[in-house]
Amino acid sequence: MFAFVTLVLVLLGGPGASALDNGLALTPTMGWLPWERFTCNVDCLEDPENCISEQLFMQMAELMVSEGWKDVGYEYVCIDDCWLASKRNKDGTLKADPKRFPSGIGHLANFVHSRGLKLGIYQDVGTLTCAGYPGSFGYYDIDAQTFADWGVDLLKFDGCYYKDIESLVEGYKYMSIALNRTGRSILYSCEWPLYSRPFQEPNYTEIRQYCNHWRNYGDILDSWSSVKSILAWTASKQESLVPAAGPGGWNDPDMLVIGNFGLSWDQQVTQMALWAIMAAPLFMSNDLRHISPRSKGLLQNKDVIAINQDPLGKQGYRLRKDKNFEVWERPLSNLAWAVAVLNQKEIGGPQKYAFSTSALGQGLGCVPACFITQILPVKEELGLYTWISLLKVLVNPTGTVLLKLQAYQPDEYSSHTTGVGFVSNNDTNDYSDYDDNNATSDDIISIITVLEPL
Ligand code: GAL
Repeated sequence: MFAFVTLVLVLLGGPGASALDNGLALTPTMGWLPWERFTCNVDCLEDPENCISEQLFMQMAELMVSEGWKDVGYEYVCIDDCWLASKRNKDGTLKADPKRFPSGIGHLANFVHSRGLKLGIYQDVGTLTCAGYPGSFGYYDIDAQTFADWGVDLLKFDGCYYKDIESLVEGYKYMSIALNRTGRSILYSCEWPLYSRPFQEPNYTEIRQYCNHWRNYGDILDSWSSVKSILAWTASKQESLVPAAGPGGWNDPDMLVIGNFGLSWDQQVTQMALWAIMAAPLFMSNDLRHISPRSKGLLQNKDVIAINQDPLGKQGYRLRKDKNFEVWERPLSNLAWAVAVLNQKEIGGPQKYAFSTSALGQGLGCVPACFITQILPVKEELGLYTWISLLKVLVNPTGTVLLKLQAYQPDEYSSHTTGVGFVSNNDTNDYSDYDDNNATSDDIISIITVLEPL
């Protein structure tokens, strides 16, 4: 019991330390990142459409505006590895590959800015990037200034080819300070805890002071087993991860691979729902030129994005694991909660899961009552529930049902109210609607009557 109470307090507490003081990432960052989908394809002769080139980023920027991505919040068009020339300039400054980025990064930044978007870039704390291009080690100040001069808005700082754990940690800190010194607002995306964990338990209080988000776990792949392993790992470490997240600094479970090849529809729903619960940065790694309307609709779902971007900024956690079902929840602003029910069974058909609302929102999600909306896989008003209702959901194999619970604020009601019942046919305490979960919005009016608003 003590352990459970402690876990609850830990998970509900605010972040233990102040965030990096650059005023950025007050909600999880949203954008596009090529790595998972386009990797290090540098063959622009054979594959001009898909190679890492300025053309690719310009096309994505255009589409982000014309196809409604920007309107729903996707803002950062990011460059990942393999954009660099094989050597620095003679003066030590970085240079983009002249064949694939003939106009240069400054020009690309102007282009992206002219579309009302922001440009992200990639470098590495060590001597080489993960793909073997010149790293930033020994050049932190010069590189930070170069990025600022080019008009870059975000730096993803990888952790390959570092000398030792001390230089890795010091390098991440140093680059944060160097970016800050340039005077330009540059969002700082780290992989510090991913690379330092083999040597020491990450100190998230410290990491939060230097980074706007940080990768904790290995690279995502376009597969269900990859998404599943990220979720399992995150749940296993949630006692340290969840309190670390908050406005200005977020855990980054890596890119969204929705709209690619490896995830079924239900698995795409699961990724979107759980990335919202985890308050994860939403970086799509897909081809915006070729994406199905269904995947596009999912990635642009405003209700899910609103959960991800909730201003309270608290990360959700796995509440329970019950055979093949997992229930995750996340506190939201205005006494609301997001709840995700994931069916891990990889055989059979849709499965029913029934659980009491009293388990949700730390026991308070539906006190005295709440209105529940199913957000995914399709939007549906489920109606009114009390704190002792039985909630039933039907979840496809490897799929997720995402719900939003909106509680009634107790202080809106008179203090002598001790309970609430559904009022059907004007009879108080008629629980027939609760029993069959068929409450309608008419019942809300009845409840408000019973509760005697102040
Ligand atoms: C990895 C990193 C990936 C990608 C890749 C580029 O270490 O986690 O997200 O950036 O390097 O080489």
